[in-house]
Amino acid sequence: MNAARLFAPLAILVALPLAPAGAQDMARGQALAERWCANCHVVNAAAGTGQSNGLPTFPAIAARPDMNAAILKGAMSATHSRMPDFELGARDQDDLAAYILSLRKR
Ligand code: HEC
Repeated sequence: MNAARLFAPLAILVALPLAPAGAQDMARGQALAERWCANCHVVNAAAGTGQSNGLPTFPAIAARPDMNAAILKGAMSATHSRMPDFELGARDQDDLAAYILSLRKR
């Protein structure tokens, strides 16, 4: 039995879940925001998109000086009175928070 042939598939199995984990993915966060959040919030910086229903836009949320990823993730996981509970996974929350904070003007 050739050891390399035995271990190569194992190495792939181990490497696969490790590769995408951890790093926050703003593009993925944007896609999630457009899919799940845009019904109620203005989710991008371009003018003229989204609703004028009085809800905070994502650029406005990002612009608050005290805003950070932990607060955002808290807002996403809490069951709000008027905001549905999306049961977002940890990675979804990380990516969404990374995207929302990327809207902050520097
Ligand atoms: C069905 C409408 C709706 C959708 C969809 C929605 N939200 Fe909200 N969101 C609200 C409302 C309403 C509030 C105001 C707080 C409240 O009354 O619960 C809010 C508040 C927030 C806040 C807190 C803002 C603040 O003032 O501190 C954050 C952050 C937020 N939403 C993020 C998101 C994200 C991320 C998504 C997509 C995963 C999302 N929302 C999707 C309705 C919605």
